[in-house]
Amino acid sequence: MEYDDVPAVERVTGQAFHTLDVETRPANWPPPQPRSPERAKLWISRLEHLLRHDPGGCWVAADQADGVVGAAVALVREGLWGLSTFAVLPGWQAQGTGKRLLEAALSYSPTGPGVICSSHDPKAVRRYRLAGFDIHPAVMLAGSVRRDALPVLPRLRDGGADDIELLNEIDRASRGHAHGVDHEVMVSQHRLVVIESGSARGYCYIYAKGSPYVLSATDVPTAQQLLWASLAETSPDDDDVSFGDMTAEHLWAFDVGFPAGLGIYNEGFMCFRDMPAWSTYIPSGHFL
Ligand SMILES: CC(C)(COP(=O)(O)OP(=O)(O)OC[C@H]1O[C@@H](n2cnc3c(N)ncnc32)[C@H](O)[C@@H]1OP(=O)(O)O)[C@@H](O)C(=O)NCCC(=O)NCCS
Repeated sequence: MEYDDVPAVERVTGQAFHTLDVETRPANWPPPQPRSPERAKLWISRLEHLLRHDPGGCWVAADQADGVVGAAVALVREGLWGLSTFAVLPGWQAQGTGKRLLEAALSYSPTGPGVICSSHDPKAVRRYRLAGFDIHPAVMLAGSVRRDALPVLPRLRDGGADDIELLNEIDRASRGHAHGVDHEVMVSQHRLVVIESGSARGYCYIYAKGSPYVLSATDVPTAQQLLWASLAETSPDDDDVSFGDMTAEHLWAFDVGFPAGLGIYNEGFMCFRDMPAWSTYIPSGHFL
């Protein structure tokens, strides 16, 4: 991948995921919306950051007539390989392009710990299992937050770029590897809240409309407080709060989501290689 490919990669991934959503969303869910220009801009800045730090993990498949038809983007942080983006244009799928792209992205770190937040596309999860990953079915929690269920949260403070060293330490405890340079992007794009109470520590990046973008904690009570904090950021009229990638290791999150009034829905898979499944950590699909 070259920098000039980035806008085309944004379009290819946007089309691939939107088509998957349109074809597979449950009939009683709101119709999926294409990626908005604002989200596309943030998406492009994240990809440029990854191309700068992980050129060996960034690959495109290109056709002479159609240009870029697929892409795979992988990052490596403190020895952990993660797949950030993987998509092929709908008209080009199921013809072996994804296999070659994934092989190229895996060549960036062929052995050792690895993680993928998989979509529910059977073509994707088939590729991941064939590449040797453990597959953990995942769910999404979604709905409108019951305001009367929100607890008082005394231990929280706002965080910022000065906290990055602390955030990396928390990551090593919760996910085994720190995010490093990716915190610079996340802290610039999301509100950050932090808990530091003796050895109990954690942080959460929160979407503008509430709900966690990334949540990382040393222990379950701290993780639960941070999740409540992110749900408290939702507005009373907003019923589209949702967060996914929850596996059987995340029962602590169900014990927040259910009293908060959220529903539970099957959604995708968490895939791990040479490492245990995460528990007191909720990943971002972009930086995992
Ligand atoms: C996932 C994706 C990137 C794979 O790319 P691709 O070019 O379609 O992949 P390939 O053709 O190399 O491999 C697809 C595999 O699924 C198989 N397959 C095709 N249709 C299938 C179906 N309906 N169910 C199960 N398997 C299917 C193919 O036979 C192939 O397996 P094989 O190589 O063992 O024969 C692409 O399909 C895509 O963009 N999907 C939508 C976006 C997405 O979900 N991305 C993954 C993000 S985690």
